[in-house]
Amino acid sequence: MPDPYAKAYQASLADPSAFWRAAAEDCHWYRKWDRVLDDSNKPFYRWFAGGRLNTCYNALDLHVEKGNGDRTALIYDSPVTDSIRSYTYRELTEEVARFAGALAAQGVVKGDRVVIYMPMIPEAAIAMLACARVGAVHSVVFGGFAARELAVRINDAKPKVIVSASCGIEVKRIVPYKPLLDEAIEIAESKPERCIVYQRPMERATLVEGRDLDWEAVVAEASPHPCVPVEATDPLYILYTSGTTGIPKGVVRDNGGHMVALKWTMKAIYNMDEGDVWWTASDVGWVVGHSYIVYGPLLKGCTTVLFEGKPVGTPDAGVFWRVISEHKVKAMFTAPTAYRAIKREDPEGKLIRDYDLSPFQALFLAGERSDPDTIQWSEKNLKVPVIDHWWQTETGWAIAANCLGLHPFPVKYGSPTKSVPGWDVRVVDASSNPVPAGEIGALVVRLPLPPGTLPTLWNNDQGFVKAYLSEFPGYYKTADAGFIDEDGYVYVMARTDDIINVAGHRLSTGAMEEVLADHPDVAECAVLGVEDSLKGQAPVGFVVLNAGVTRDEEEIVAEVIHMVRERIGPVAAFKQATVVKRLPKTRSGKILRGTIQKIADNKEWNVPATIDEPATLTEMEEALTRLGLAGARIPEGK
Ligand code: COA
Ligand code: AMP
Repeated sequence: MPDPYAKAYQASLADPSAFWRAAAEDCHWYRKWDRVLDDSNKPFYRWFAGGRLNTCYNALDLHVEKGNGDRTALIYDSPVTDSIRSYTYRELTEEVARFAGALAAQGVVKGDRVVIYMPMIPEAAIAMLACARVGAVHSVVFGGFAARELAVRINDAKPKVIVSASCGIEVKRIVPYKPLLDEAIEIAESKPERCIVYQRPMERATLVEGRDLDWEAVVAEASPHPCVPVEATDPLYILYTSGTTGIPKGVVRDNGGHMVALKWTMKAIYNMDEGDVWWTASDVGWVVGHSYIVYGPLLKGCTTVLFEGKPVGTPDAGVFWRVISEHKVKAMFTAPTAYRAIKREDPEGKLIRDYDLSPFQALFLAGERSDPDTIQWSEKNLKVPVIDHWWQTETGWAIAANCLGLHPFPVKYGSPTKSVPGWDVRVVDASSNPVPAGEIGALVVRLPLPPGTLPTLWNNDQGFVKAYLSEFPGYYKTADAGFIDEDGYVYVMARTDDIINVAGHRLSTGAMEEVLADHPDVAECAVLGVEDSLKGQAPVGFVVLNAGVTRDEEEIVAEVIHMVRERIGPVAAFKQATVVKRLPKTRSGKILRGTIQKIADNKEWNVPATIDEPATLTEMEEALTRLGLAGARIPEGK
């Protein structure tokens, strides 16, 4: 007898339409689909074509209509403002319906885009759900991005309305959002008609007359708006994510496939039932926040915790345990970096003992590789399964996981366990040939991707095909390298492009290089992600100055660091850079990034046969040592 995981996995690949049709029966449809999987326009696959639904209806109204209106839908827990606020499903439905009415009053209709640039307050989730209610397409931009990054997204999405707030709170620092928003609109070519601004008491924003409206005022005048039926294939949201250049990719998510897949994952992967309390400590600006702070838990009828704080410093490394115990959280999801931060402050987990964690049953980690130390520390101190799972902004939900709701497997440290049902994950070489078990290659997924994944990039079908589908025909390229062992455990080892993962945040070193190259004194540069014990990786910049520049090097370094913060944002965490005479290159002029990285990370390395000037590696070692990086010792005799 195959176990429930094996049964589901085989069924999902043998007949994807039958598998996902069954999952779709668990959702409300105004009209059922004509075809579960429409493959008439390969390589563009569409799920539930012809079906009509409303995601907000499924996430909110349906639970009220089923008699669960008094159940808690959302708990806002904000140690940075010292407040906790709960919404029942009925209350949240009413708030969302009214804000949907406010959007409609500003002329927002089905298909219009709405950019949401907000901190972790309930109004961010309310704005997202209100967009879904009227059929508008939201695009949430993470608060840690600078005005220019916001402007790039505004230009691409062309929103009719932008919803924002007066400020965010970073531990004790107030981050005014409105000046960033004003600057972004100033830079952007595409201007929104209206901005709706939620005024927080700790920092009130100045509103631009004729353009900006106060959230409270528009809501007071609005009447509740009903759910607008949309096509299953209509977009629910666009989420921009780092690509290999400074231009982010607009990942599109549809309504139907997204609803079906996310609701299914809540039980199959996370073992959550209706009424259970779920907590994702992330931000609504990331895909994890979209899928598992807002949509997944609400579609399932769970209680979701929206946390405005940090794992440490708000006020201490015990805050996670306080939240789990106070709200009776059954399972939580965050990035490993959050647990590394706690472990660093409270290595013995002493603060855990102050709280009753008896309802807590599982910890899920994703966003970056989970290092075995962090998993083992969490297992030992929390005494619950700690589950690493692998996914991407593009996929919207996990590609590989230990499916707690189907059949948990023994953990192999360093592996997010097995491919989730729906995902035909393979490891191939550069010519798309399979590589034997245990050997590293490109991690790819055989098409079609399951529902809930990206159908395309916003207004960029060609870019979608080029970035994901052309290198390995018939497969989706994850841009991760890794292997699958003989037991089917997947190992994700490294990105194959210039993406780095800093504190679980996905960033492009190429985008940082574009900023550095703009400095008038910089002739050439390279940015690399080096190992960091807290954040997983940290960006480090190397700049070569133009001939004849005699200015103080430290001043130039401070300027480039400032430029990255100003142009990309504090989230880039770009704090280390140095001036070098030359960059190590191959004879054909390619920067030897892999070698520099190995030196910085204190790994085994060789002088590449293709190197142009071996002395440049000695210079690089000196530069890394100056930065306090590198066990950078050139091996004897090199
Ligand atoms: N608005 C404005 N600024 C923000 C921001 C936001 N929403 N989010 C982060 N920043 C700023 C931070 O204040 C920090 O600024 P600084 O350079 O002035 O200190 C900078 O961006 C880097 O932030 P971060 O990477 O979060 O580092 P941190 O030192 O503040 O915190 C951790 C480190 C590990 C505690 C933190 O990253 C964390 O809690 N991570 C949890 C995991 C997570 O949310 N992952 C997302 C995907 S699951
Ligand atoms: P993002 O789109 O921000 O979610 O980042 C996706 C990338 O993060 C993936 O392509 C991986 O490189 C990395 N990643 C996410 N989860 C994991 C994991 N569990 N193990 C290893 N890498 C991961």
